[in-house]
Amino acid sequence: MHATGHDEIEECSLMRSLLFVPGDSAKKLEKGLASGADILLIDLEDSVSADRKEAARKIAADFLLAHRDHASPRLFVRINDLASGLADADLAAVMPALPEGILLPKSNSGKDVTRLSVKLSVHEARAGVTEGQTQILALITETAVGTLSAASYPDASKRLIGLSWGAEDLSAAIGASTARDENGRYTDVFRLARALTILGASAAEVAAIDTVYINYRDDAGLAQECRQAERDGFAAKLAIHPAQIPIINEVFTPSVEAVRHAQAIVDAFAADPTAGVIGVEGQMFDRPHLRRAERLIARAASIA
Ligand code: COA
Ligand code: MG
Repeated sequence: MHATGHDEIEECSLMRSLLFVPGDSAKKLEKGLASGADILLIDLEDSVSADRKEAARKIAADFLLAHRDHASPRLFVRINDLASGLADADLAAVMPALPEGILLPKSNSGKDVTRLSVKLSVHEARAGVTEGQTQILALITETAVGTLSAASYPDASKRLIGLSWGAEDLSAAIGASTARDENGRYTDVFRLARALTILGASAAEVAAIDTVYINYRDDAGLAQECRQAERDGFAAKLAIHPAQIPIINEVFTPSVEAVRHAQAIVDAFAADPTAGVIGVEGQMFDRPHLRRAERLIARAASIA
């Protein structure tokens, strides 16, 4: 079963766009429902000021209770990080309302994901629901040690379905005044963080999710960044504004042509099961290409 990894492929494939919504804004939460995002990330962390944390917990829980039976978008909550002193109160407020998942910010290693998983088990037992049903996403490059621990996520928790990265907190952590150079290109540390996220997610067999594009009126810039992310192995992208969702969904939905091509590769291997390498349409494909083709087809099927 592990040889093919089909289970992981299915589970990590149900997302293209993840929209952050400040948890203290009932109005934006309602708007997020109609945005077309695959996942709403109800935020209790950076977009909520200290004096609004308690209000945000209540608004988030009420929203979850009102909408948890909706099939789409899936509702996740970004809690405050495990060192903030706020995470337990966040979980106590939202877990009885059964979010589909929790986004852990400032994760320092797979151990943080394991710690969160144990906490979730306690809340699931209290709520009388199946242990393990609450999924986990983690932001792994918001601290220096977190970035350097990108390889620590395999076996952290079965709940883990994706890893993402962030430039804002890492800039602050390392003392960089900006994450991009004068041409708009991420500087080395941030390109490293981005690459480590792709590798860390691949090692853990979960989805790699690209970070936010903060210029939310620049559709062309967003589309370009989405295409680069998709090319480099990301399966999805974080969003901060509803206008970004159609652009992200389009780029991360495999095209008819891409699905057809992937199917041709799968069919060719199926016709010759012992082959290590085959030719399709004048190009060579070996076993890693087969896995990539299967992933793409699974991703397309989960969207359809
Ligand atoms: N989720 C849901 N609705 C949103 C939204 C979001 N992330 N961002 C904007 N909207 C709504 C606005 O409320 C507005 O609704 P209205 O037309 O009913 O008034 C509409 O979309 C258009 O918004 P706009 O006027 O273009 O932007 P804004 O000035 O209201 O908001 C931001 C700009 C950046 C403050 C807002 O997009 C936002 O809060 N983003 C999320 C920030 C966040 O969560 N950050 C943490 C992760 S980095
Ligand atoms: Mg942050």
